[in-house]
Order: sequence, then structure tokens, then C-alpha cells
Amino acid sequence: MTKQTELGGSFTLPGTAMNLKRMGYGAMQLAGPGVWGPPRDVDAAIAVLREAVAAGVNHIDTSDFYGPHVTNQIIKQALHPYPEGLVMVTKVGARRPEDKSWVHALSRQELIDAVHDNLRNLGLDTLDVINLRVGGVMGPSEGSIEEPLTVLAELKRQGLIRHLGLSNVSPDQLTEGQAITEIVCVQNLYNLAHRHDDAIIEDLAHRGIAYVPFFPLGGFSPLQSTALDAAAAALQFTPMQVALAWLLQRSPNILLIPGTSSVEHLRENLRAATLQLPAEMIASLDLIGKDSKRLPTNV
Ligand SMILES: NC(=O)c1ccc[n+]([C@@H]2O[C@H](COP(=O)([O-])OP(=O)(O)OC[C@H]3O[C@@H](n4cnc5c(N)ncnc54)[C@H](OP(=O)(O)O)[C@@H]3O)[C@@H](O)[C@H]2O)c1
Repeated sequence: MTKQTELGGSFTLPGTAMNLKRMGYGAMQLAGPGVWGPPRDVDAAIAVLREAVAAGVNHIDTSDFYGPHVTNQIIKQALHPYPEGLVMVTKVGARRPEDKSWVHALSRQELIDAVHDNLRNLGLDTLDVINLRVGGVMGPSEGSIEEPLTVLAELKRQGLIRHLGLSNVSPDQLTEGQAITEIVCVQNLYNLAHRHDDAIIEDLAHRGIAYVPFFPLGGFSPLQSTALDAAAAALQFTPMQVALAWLLQRSPNILLIPGTSSVEHLRENLRAATLQLPAEMIASLDLIGKDSKRLPTNV
């Protein structure tokens, strides 16, 4: 049931020389509780990042609103100067007021400030990829993205950003965005239990665009399913590993960014790339999210 792969193989972002290992790392969990303030143990956070890169991960997902600022500052402390080939993907479009909530920050000035915050806190002159985060965490909210995306396209022309992606978007917003500028990746909520983006994934796969599911393990509500537990027990892997292996086998344009603050969980997650799920097990796992509905949107 295991296969030899290097982090799930790799995928080149369209129109770029960025060849990403399909098993990446999501850095949100490195901030303190509630993605606010510093973590209890900064050295442990640094160890997770260094272990990921040492294991060959070359795709780190982050944002300056994690912490805020804290996660990017820890990434810089752990990894700067960055090794050749490491691709940092960050996002703008939200901010964290003092009450620790998440609110939209999509005005021209907020986007410009956020790009400069990311550059400063990551210690970079140019950002590899920026996702424009549009909707709320549980799903997209409809409306034109022309204004904010045009601002980012302008910053790209100025050389502050290499490539653009979209996050928390609907199919219509994706179509609108692609008419404005080249989109290299889409980052939406998707996992075994939340399958509302199935059609988008197929469409992006045909067009060679990466799909990067956030909350691949369920995020703040870890995936729980008897079918998942049964598959894990049969394969002698953990349920989280099976959930990640399912995503890797779901479509070749899916890139994973599971989040963890633990070196042990990181190693476990990376090992999921060696797990080959048999077809009949995939069929039974597919039933978990077959009828999934969009959850109410809150930013
Ligand atoms: N675009 C957006 O709006 C958006 C929204 C949310 C997240 N994201 C991005 O997506 C990335 C992934 O999302 P996420 O971190 O929120 O959710 P996730 O990857 O689905 O799950 C992370 C949670 O699972 C736990 N975990 C990780 N590996 C585990 C393992 N092997 N066994 C048991 N538990 C494990 C983590 O706890 P431990 O720390 O204890 O391991 C953490 O509580 C984030 O880091 C962020 O970069 C983007």
C-alpha cells in the first residue's frame, strides 16, 4: 500500500518556473491560540519550519494577518536567507482588529499596505505568489473582484509580486479574475467532507492551474468519520494521513498545505505522500462528502 514518491511529486505553476512539491506546509498554526500573538514556544515553531524545508518542502503558505505579523516574522527568523527554490505563497484581503476577529481589507490602500507588510516581515523584495482572499473562511461571497484584483495586478507590474492567485472565490469570480490577469492558483476550503469545489478542481486541472485546499484536515474542526477511521485502521496509517492521501489522489493539480505546530505531526503528514489508496477505498471515502453543503459564510 505504500509507494515511493518525493512529497507526492511536483506541479509547475502555469507560466512560471515554480515547480512545487505537492506536499507543502501551511504556516497559520505557528501563531498563538486563535491565530493571534506569538506561540507559546517560538523555538518549536522554528523547528517545524526548518524540518519541513529539510524534508524537501518548497511551498509554504502564509499571510501577514496570521498573528498578525507573527507568523511571517517567525518564517523569516527560521529560514531567511531563503533557500533557492523555496516558494512562499502569501495572501492579502483580510485584517485582524484588536477584538481578534477577521474582517475584509480589500480597499486599494489596505491591499498596498498588506503587500508591503508581507515584504517587510518576510524580508523579501518581491513576493513569489499572492492570493487575493475575497470571501469568508467558510466560503465565497458573490460580487465583483475587479477593483481589488486590478490593484494587485498593478503591484505585479511594478515588480512587487511575481504571480497572483485567488482565495475564497466562486466560479464566477474566478472567471472574472482570469480576464483581468493570469491566475496561477486557487485556494478554497476543500477536504474529504467539504466537496463543493469538485467542479472547479476539474476545470482548473484541465487548464493546468493549481488548486490548494485549505483546511485539508478540517481546520479548526478536525475531520471525523467512521469510514475514514476504518480506512486508516485497515491501512495502518492515521486518519489524517488517509485524508491527505485522498486529496493527493483526487487530482494531480491539488497541492497540499496541511498546517501543524508539531514536528511529529509534520512528519506524519509528509509520510502521507507514500500512501497509495486502493480504488475501492477511494470509492468508500468519496461517499463522506458526497452531499456536502456550503457552510454559512463568516469572515
Ligand atoms: N485562504 C484562507 O482563507 C485560509 C483559511 C485557513 C487556512 N488557510 C491556510 O491553509 C493552511 C492549512 O489550514 P489549517 O492549518 O487551518 O487546517 P488543517 O491543515 O486542516 O488542520 C490543522 C489542524 O490539524 C492539526 N493537525 C495537523 N496535522 C495533524 C496530524 N497529523 N494529526 C492530528 N492533528 C493534526 C493541527 O494541530 P497541531 O498543530 O497540533 O498539529 C491543527 O489543529 C493554513 O496553515 C493556512 O496557511 C487559508
